Amino acid sequence: MRGLVVRGVGTPPRVEPVELPATGRGQVRVAVRAAGVCHSDLSMVDGTIAAPYPLLLGHEAAGVVVEVGDDVDRIAVGDHVVLDWAPPCRSCWYCGHGEPWLCERSGTPAATVGHTIDGEPLHVTLGLGALAEQVVVPQQAVVSVPPDLPFATAALLGCAVLTGVGAIRRTADVRPGDSVAVIGLGGVGLSAVAAARAAGAARVIAVDVAPAKAELAHAAGATDFLLADDTLSRAVRSLTDGRGVDHAVECVGRAATIRAAWRATRRGGQVIVVGMGGKDDMVALSALEIFHSARTLRSSVYGSSDPDRDVPELARAVLDGTLDLDFLVTDRITLDDAPEALARMARGEGARTVVLF
Ligand code: APR
Ligand code: ZN
Repeated sequence: MRGLVVRGVGTPPRVEPVELPATGRGQVRVAVRAAGVCHSDLSMVDGTIAAPYPLLLGHEAAGVVVEVGDDVDRIAVGDHVVLDWAPPCRSCWYCGHGEPWLCERSGTPAATVGHTIDGEPLHVTLGLGALAEQVVVPQQAVVSVPPDLPFATAALLGCAVLTGVGAIRRTADVRPGDSVAVIGLGGVGLSAVAAARAAGAARVIAVDVAPAKAELAHAAGATDFLLADDTLSRAVRSLTDGRGVDHAVECVGRAATIRAAWRATRRGGQVIVVGMGGKDDMVALSALEIFHSARTLRSSVYGSSDPDRDVPELARAVLDGTLDLDFLVTDRITLDDAPEALARMARGEGARTVVLF
């Protein structure tokens, strides 16, 4: 089959022939029908996230189950499924503690699960490698969704939407009347904007460096759009009676934007870090301001969500019209155009690009 492979930091990813393992015990084979291009893929190409190479990219996808291995009991051939890049083991301390998104056995950036390229081992992103025609994964790594859910939307439920919506609903617990700022308006941030509005937030201030994101922000339900520059915290304050927002959600993954989120938050408010940044990118906070601002700094991993519970719930919300994600897919492409989609993402263009198979 063909898949999008990167062979080293900074080298351009290319569509290459790769060999997939046979479907083993407890595993399912999925024909991928749609796969989103996520910033984490870009981060593994540009080295922001350390990864082994050669690496098969992609972790946000949906498709149809075409084969099941022995002892598969929760999935059948023909099921429409969303891939889960952090399938909880259900037996470690975190899973038992109701925090399956922190499962000790899942979420490794890259794994070897039996793929090869030119006869050599090929690593796959988050155990999936979903920017490819097929995946072979444990049955725990797929969640069934109704067949009338469009594949492009279903794909995004597995990463951008679960992450962005979960950050608002589960990590931040935004309440009606709250004020929210979302910094970084890619697939993740725009999902957060839509969720904040749906949660009844009175003010949803969308922030990005790219002026072209204003239109997408309003389509997602933002009440205001601000450019990320030195005047940001003043501009946010002027929209919130001089105080700052109750919740600032950082969806970029940089120290500078975490710092900007911190400054945009009111005393006693909270900063939610959703973006996955680099290990040497340091955020400076003084001891006095931490104390005096009484703010909370939290991170949101996979939207503090349990995909087995939350993906079907999101799918229902999309189908009954209470969660409108149509604005999110701005480009539909073939696998051959995926390298160009990564380049567009690096330039901050569009919302989500989805590869259709
Ligand atoms: N201030 C504000 N916005 C910024 C800044 C900045 N300094 N730098 C970049 N941005 C904007 C970009 O213009 C773009 O609109 O952040 C947005 C990021 O969007 P995408 O690249 O589409 O990223 P996305 O897939 O949404 O992921 C966001 O979440 O899961 C993590 O690893 C992922 O860190 C990434 C983040
Ligand atoms: Zn992702």
